[in-house]
Amino acid sequence: MARSSDTYVCQSCGAVYAKWAGRCDACGEWNSIELETQSAPPGAVAVKDGKGNAIRLDSLEGDIQSERRLPSGNAEFDRAVGGGLVPGGALLVGGDPGVGKSTLLLQIAAGLAQEKSKVAYISGEEAIAQIRMRAKRLGLSKAPVGLASGTNLRDILATLRTEKPDVVIIDSIQTLWTDTLPAAPGTVTQVRACAQELVRFAKQNTCAIILVGHVTKDGQLAGPRVVEHLVDAVLYFESESGRSFRILRAVKNRFGAAHEIGVFEMTGGGLREVSNPSALFLSEGDGVVSGSVVFAGIEGTRPLLCEIQALVSQSSLGAPRRAVVGWDSARLSMLLAVLDTRCGLDFGRHDVFLNVAGGLKISEPAADMAAAAALLSARLDTPVPPKMVVFGEIGLSGAVRPVPQMPARMGEAEKLGFEQVLCPALGEDKPKGLRSSLIGEVADLVNYIKGL
Ligand code: TYD
Ligand code: MG
Repeated sequence: MARSSDTYVCQSCGAVYAKWAGRCDACGEWNSIELETQSAPPGAVAVKDGKGNAIRLDSLEGDIQSERRLPSGNAEFDRAVGGGLVPGGALLVGGDPGVGKSTLLLQIAAGLAQEKSKVAYISGEEAIAQIRMRAKRLGLSKAPVGLASGTNLRDILATLRTEKPDVVIIDSIQTLWTDTLPAAPGTVTQVRACAQELVRFAKQNTCAIILVGHVTKDGQLAGPRVVEHLVDAVLYFESESGRSFRILRAVKNRFGAAHEIGVFEMTGGGLREVSNPSALFLSEGDGVVSGSVVFAGIEGTRPLLCEIQALVSQSSLGAPRRAVVGWDSARLSMLLAVLDTRCGLDFGRHDVFLNVAGGLKISEPAADMAAAAALLSARLDTPVPPKMVVFGEIGLSGAVRPVPQMPARMGEAEKLGFEQVLCPALGEDKPKGLRSSLIGEVADLVNYIKGL
């Protein structure tokens, strides 16, 4: 029988239950609920006795810490975190096992150390010799990084108190455990407690802390989602299977723009920065094919061009197929409905496939018109001009609306040798070197493509 201090905790999202269940109601994960024994931390006192020290209330105006940033010298990483690490800030880097988190952070550790920050790299997963081997392979053996292998939080905090580093890297948060809790390492209770302690240490000692977290589906290791609320910034390190480039994506950042991305390529000598990612996401070859359109997008603060490909084919199925890669399927349905209702173009007997080339994921509404142009180009079997970029948001009425940062989008297109732009009304933002065709309604877009 369960004791009163026992609770059942979802290892994926941290929801707490009084009894076991096969599926977590909060996050929908199966088999993620496990028994955890809770105990009050030593020295904890009951709240009801009314003891405690009053906290002073301050005004909004007053002393603030200077906007000091710790650069890593790695432009892609620094951009993704919003211009370098912030002293006292906590960062979570999540990603699938094997994506290259340890490689990235060892390179960042070396970069920070070369930029005169004192760095401690603490690994709970690998032995010192293994990390040295990787450092040798990456050509970073000479970098003045303090290396340790350990998993006991008490020991780690004691080390940090004496060493006083500017930056601490913990690889990974799931391997740490604190002896104040009876739960096993890797459980949500342990991960949360260790992360909380480390974040508190970072704030009190103005040291920047980077936590590595594995994202696993099988519920064996605690999902780092519980840690996401504790830290100042969350970055995901992602890869498209079978491809060598990696994207570091900021999903939450108290110190910079969210949705900012850093792009890397995994090579034999570690991760290489990709400073011109637009070239990566545009397919090679100048062959003019129908259904392929270049979208001028914005990822975070950076303009990024990428290719949207559509394929429309006659279907023999009663319910034709709709498949998307890197795109939202609900948005595809909406675009098809708008094209059908406003322009009478029937996609009802066609299979429709929409793909964002290069493994990029697009969530910007500004990509609507590029996707619509790709769909129309595929449906009408009419290629669009090769040196053209497209952007614009499409409403349910069929109206094409202006989108943010139009000059930046056109600037990037011009820089990469594009000659024309298909876009909504530009107002003041006239392009300098591009020929523009303005589209106010999807019907205009249909006429434009029919007229090619
Ligand atoms: P790793 O950083 O250990 O991944 P994680 O910490 O996210 O689990 O990276 C492992 C992969 O990276 C492994 O498959 C080998 C590859 N790799 C390279 O291709 N080049 C390199 O220089 C290094 C160090 C690793
Ligand atoms: Mg690792």
